[in-house]
Order: sequence, then C-alpha cells, then structure tokens
Amino acid sequence: MHFLDIAKNRYSTKKYNPNEKLSEDIVQQLTQILRLSPSSINSQPWKFTIISDTKVKSELAAVSYHNLEKINQASHLVVFSAIDNVEKFENENLSQLPEAAVNYYHQLVKPLGEAGIRNWMQHQVYLSLGFFLAGCASMGIDSTPMEGIQPDKYNEILKYDGYTALFAAAIGHRDVADFNQPTLKPKFRRPLEEVIDHM
Ligand SMILES: Cc1cc2nc3c(=O)[nH]c(=O)nc-3n(C[C@H](O)[C@H](O)[C@H](O)COP(=O)(O)O)c2cc1C
Repeated sequence: MHFLDIAKNRYSTKKYNPNEKLSEDIVQQLTQILRLSPSSINSQPWKFTIISDTKVKSELAAVSYHNLEKINQASHLVVFSAIDNVEKFENENLSQLPEAAVNYYHQLVKPLGEAGIRNWMQHQVYLSLGFFLAGCASMGIDSTPMEGIQPDKYNEILKYDGYTALFAAAIGHRDVADFNQPTLKPKFRRPLEEVIDHM
C-alpha cells in the first residue's frame, strides 16, 4: 500500500478488541522501529517502555484520565519518556556522538539552559511518536497516541530514574465497531491550501 493510503486509513483508535493480542514477533519489530527513530544530532534522549503485563497496564490506565478503557483493552501500552537530567545526557549520549554533533550541541543547544535543553530532548521523543505511529499503520496495527496521562504517576509506577514519562501509545487491534475509524467518521483536517504553501 502507498504511504498516502496508509495515512488516510490510520486513525486514533478509541475502542480496542481485548481478545486480539499482538504477537511477540510484531512487538519485537516495533521495538526496532522505535530504536531506529531519527533525532537531532542522533541524540536519542529517550526510553521506550513496552507494557503487556495486565496488572501494570491497569495501574497506568487508572492514572490516564479518559484513556483508562483504551489502555485496559489494548494489547500493549508503550510509554515514551525523555532523559530529564542534562548531565546524564551529556555523559551517556553526547559522549558517544561525533565531534560535529558535539559542536552543534555546544553552540546551539547548550546555550538554551537546563529547561531549554530538556525541552529540546523532549522534541526528539515527540518525533519518535510520529515515526512509531506511521510504522504501526504500515504494519496494520492500530494505535492511540495519548498525552492524557499523569506523567508523575507514571514515573512512580515505572520507577523511572533519570527519565520522565511524556506520553504513551496504546497499540493493538480495533473493536470492529470503533466509531472513530475513518470509514465511519471521516477525518477532519484543515484545507490543503491553508496548511501548505508553494513558492
Ligand atoms: C501528542 C498527541 C496526544 C494525543 N492525546 C490523546 C489522548 O490522550 N487521548 C486520545 O484519545 N487521543 C489523543 N490524541 C489523538 C488526537 O486527538 C488525534 O490524533 C487527532 O484528533 C487526529 O485524529 P486521527 O489521529 O484519528 O487522525 C493525541 C494525539 C497526539 C498526536
């Protein structure tokens, strides 16, 4: 299928079929897609936690507002987190990058200060979400990106040290009657001529 058709068909799933679990092989492929996400200067300031355990998934669901049912019914939950400690990033990630990348960081990112650097790291994690959602769609896997979570509670439950949860994605297979699928609810997007300029 062409990517344009994949883009037209993918959507944020609101109701999953709890009886359709993703196979171990599929999950392994998804972990590789996550790892291959691009990032500025190849900084990779992230951690992805893949949860299949029903108990942990339901603990996280309980601190995810309106996303509770989706998370409980989905096959897996992927938590996207960013490094939250600049020193850790510089010691563990930056130190392994080529000189040009290190120079870029020192000239253009470091002057942003602690909060600015954390913000820059978080941008990279958001990019991996887009990459992941497209990857899922290309494999016929349904997904729901979710900022509607309580990151502090996620950090506690997952015992994160040096990372902070930003958002999560439920993945699995839709309930066949999910109202949000494009065949039942056409996608709303702003007009092409409003969002695209040609020069
Ligand atoms: C970063 C991000 C956070 C989102 N958070 C939620 C969420 O917490 N719960 C939910 O049901 N949908 C969430 N969505 C889904 C959006 O509402 C959805 O992508 C948008 O309405 C476009 O619809 P589509 O994905 O079906 O094409 C989120 C999407 C993104 C990209």
